[in-house]
Formats: sequence, structure tokens, C-alpha cells
Amino acid sequence: MLDIRNLTVTFNDGRPGMAVRGIDLHMEAGDTLGLVGESGSGKTVTAHTIAGLIKRDYATVSGEVIFDGRDILKCTDDEMRLLQGKDIGMIFQEPMTSLDPLMKIGRQIEETLRLHCRFTAEERRNMVLEVMRLVGLPNPDLTYKKYPHQLSGGQRQRAMIAAAFITHPKLLILDEPTTALDVTVQAQIIELLKRLNEKCGVSLLFISHDLRVIKRVCKKVAVMYNGEIVEQGDTEQVFSDPRHEYTKELIAAVTARRRVNV
Ligand SMILES: Nc1ncnc2c1ncn2[C@@H]1O[C@H](COP(=O)(O)OP(=O)(O)OP(=O)(O)O)[C@@H](O)[C@H]1O
Ligand SMILES: [Mg+2]
Repeated sequence: MLDIRNLTVTFNDGRPGMAVRGIDLHMEAGDTLGLVGESGSGKTVTAHTIAGLIKRDYATVSGEVIFDGRDILKCTDDEMRLLQGKDIGMIFQEPMTSLDPLMKIGRQIEETLRLHCRFTAEERRNMVLEVMRLVGLPNPDLTYKKYPHQLSGGQRQRAMIAAAFITHPKLLILDEPTTALDVTVQAQIIELLKRLNEKCGVSLLFISHDLRVIKRVCKKVAVMYNGEIVEQGDTEQVFSDPRHEYTKELIAAVTARRRVNV
């Protein structure tokens, strides 16, 4: 479904070096792939490239990003918008900045339907209420009419997931989706994402610096370091028997933190 070959991204801002250096990634339909690595290692740039958010006027991108047989890097802006609206959903860390503060929640969730599909207003509303129920938003009828600031952080993240999920995309890209949430809400969102993957078959590309979250959600993991993927494979295997020095350090850091906490 997704095949990334030799992807390289260089920003034209005069700074030397590549943000992403010739990476290869592969995802089958229904896969859950975790992308981990230290700050600045290129995770977000990789995600943005797949979502078509890196523009040619400020970055040079080479390689191939084949999604369902088509190279995303060769898509026109119009083709990309269609893909974003239908097949690829993206969710970011802080839902407050991705939601329009002046638009009611229900209307935001239905936005992609209005732009890309020919449903009647009533059909759209019913689909929104259905997806709101699916992601566990309380009282869909009431929540539909609320503004983002009237929801809790966890509810806003559920609303974002609903908005990304309403077109039943094949791939959801999640960039630190639970980092801004407290532990209990984080666990609920993780359960929700797992359920969407298991019951609806949506593939997840899940970026997080939290290895425990990755372990719970992702069957496979890729470790990035300085723009490269230094190790990838089965999550259990990579974490129990890391090959690369950097992966070992990453795991050691989590273990040390846990020891301090107890
Ligand atoms: N728009 C941009 N213009 C110039 N350089 C950029 C841009 N976006 C990212 N970079 C650079 O690309 C590199 C990779 O950044 P990226 O955001 O992918 O890191 P990350 O792995 O997501 O880190 P974090 O865990 O902190 O989110 C960094 O060196 C960053 O400074
Ligand atoms: Mg990032």
C-alpha cells in the first residue's frame, strides 16, 4: 500500500545537510508502523512528505513515495488534495492548533465530505454523528454544535480523529497524537486507534518518542537517527534485541526513566 524508496529531503534554507537521507519504508494495508527517534531525526518531515505537505518551493525531495501504485511526489496539488481528503488522514500533536476555533465541531468533522463528496446535508450530518459515536465523543447531537474550546483536550483529539476518519481513509498518519494528553486520556485514545485499526482495517503510521506507546499500538517499528532509518522490524523483536547502538540507548533511556519514577 505504501512503499517509500530512497526518500531524501533537503530544505533550501541554506543550512547544510539533509533532513531525511535516503530512507526506505514499507507498509501493507492494515499495518501499524511506529516511527521513533530523537528530536530532529526527521520523523515529522517524513510524515509530511507522505501527506504531501512538503512544498517544492522550499525543499528538494527525491526518491519515491508510492501510495496505492501512485508516486505521491509526482502528484499535482489537485491530485494530492483529493488523496489527503479521502485516502490519507493526518493527525497532529495539539488538536487546538489544527481545529478552527470559530467553527463548530460537527461542521469541522464534515468538512472533507463537503469538499470531496456529493452527500446531502442530512446525509453528511448523519455520517458525522455516526463517526462521533465511533470515536467515543459524548452526546453527539450536543457536541456537534460546540466550539473547540468547549471540549476537553481528549475530546478535541477524538474530534480530530473523527475528522480524519470520516472518509474512511486507508492510512492515518499520527504525529505525537497523545503527547499533549494526560496518561488516562492517552490510554483511551490509544485504545480507540487500536480499535479503528482492528475493526476498520485502517493502517497507522504512528510517530512517537514514547516507546511504550509504540509497543502498545504498533506491530512494526522503524528507528530514525539523523535522517536515516537505522533499524526496522517487528516491534517486539527490535525492542527485545536491538541491533543498533542508538536503539539500545533509546531503550536504556526509557528503562532509566522508569526506575527513577518508582
Ligand atoms: N520547514 C523546515 N525548514 C527547514 N528545516 C526544517 C523544516 N522542517 C524541519 N526541518 C529540519 O529537518 C530536521 C528534521 O526535523 P523533524 O521535524 O522531522 O524532526 P522530528 O524527528 O519530527 O523531531 P521532534 O521529535 O522534535 O518532532 C531538523 O533538523 C529540522 O530542523
Ligand atoms: Mg516531529
